[in-house]
Amino acid sequence: MKFKGQTVAVVGGGSGIGKAIAHALVLAGAKVVVSSRDSAKLDAAISEFGDGGVAAPIDMTAPESVAAWAEEIPQIDHLVISASSAAHGSFEELSNADLRHMFDAKFFGPYATARAAVKKLAEGGSITFFSGVLSRRPGLNCSGLGAVNGAVEALTRGLALELGPRLRVNCVSPGMVRSEAYAGMEPSAREAMYEATGESLPTARVGEVEEAAEAALFLMSNAYTTGVVLDVDGGHMIRQYAKR
Ligand SMILES: NC(=O)c1ccc[n+]([C@@H]2O[C@H](COP(=O)([O-])OP(=O)(O)OC[C@H]3O[C@@H](n4cnc5c(N)ncnc54)[C@H](OP(=O)(O)O)[C@@H]3O)[C@@H](O)[C@H]2O)c1
Repeated sequence: MKFKGQTVAVVGGGSGIGKAIAHALVLAGAKVVVSSRDSAKLDAAISEFGDGGVAAPIDMTAPESVAAWAEEIPQIDHLVISASSAAHGSFEELSNADLRHMFDAKFFGPYATARAAVKKLAEGGSITFFSGVLSRRPGLNCSGLGAVNGAVEALTRGLALELGPRLRVNCVSPGMVRSEAYAGMEPSAREAMYEATGESLPTARVGEVEEAAEAALFLMSNAYTTGVVLDVDGGHMIRQYAKR
């Protein structure tokens, strides 16, 4: 019950890694405010947690929604933002509008949400952002998303300096993790992608949402850790491209 008596807001908690974080926090004794755009999805997620979760919808890309959310939530000890949406495409084909949309969803949205929540964060609390391996280990047709992730990591370090010692600010950088983020793919293509990526990793498999969630709980609870980008990526940074 490491988080007993604490309240944590998880933006992106309706699915994937965010949902696993919210669930782990409830099991660790926290009260969790679970947020994303889709209220039905939030209610379904919360019903899986038992007591301990409450829904507070937000669209991070809509300023009025962010402001209303910040008014509605109680005082919190920690804020986690795993929400994002992403598009892939080659440099020449991905439109400027698509890239702006990615920056809105994964950089400006979390920026505005964290800014609005600062007044609700208790002394000694923390903010945890999410980036991803593409910032430092690029992939073909992912340069835009890599740039967004790099911006999130730079923001993490800057805010850790600026908001300390009152708050700590960290970032989880996942490698490929099985999650609803890939729900739109054809199932056999998705499995083939997981297998091909897993094969290139020292772990010889892709990750599970619970493994990424553990990293977020560590960053929230370790009071001497700030300004850190924590890779939870199966060794993606040292992956090999030749087959074993
Ligand atoms: N899974 C991976 O392989 C992987 C790899 C590298 C990095 N990451 C990063 O890890 C984080 C979590 O990924 P995940 O796999 O858990 O993704 P996910 O399952 O797709 O979850 C993303 C969540 O974000 C919410 N969301 C999207 N746009 C939003 C907005 N404008 N306002 C509020 N909520 C919004 C979605 O819910 P609604 O639709 O209800 O809004 C959804 O619950 C993301 O930052 C992702 O880029 C993931």
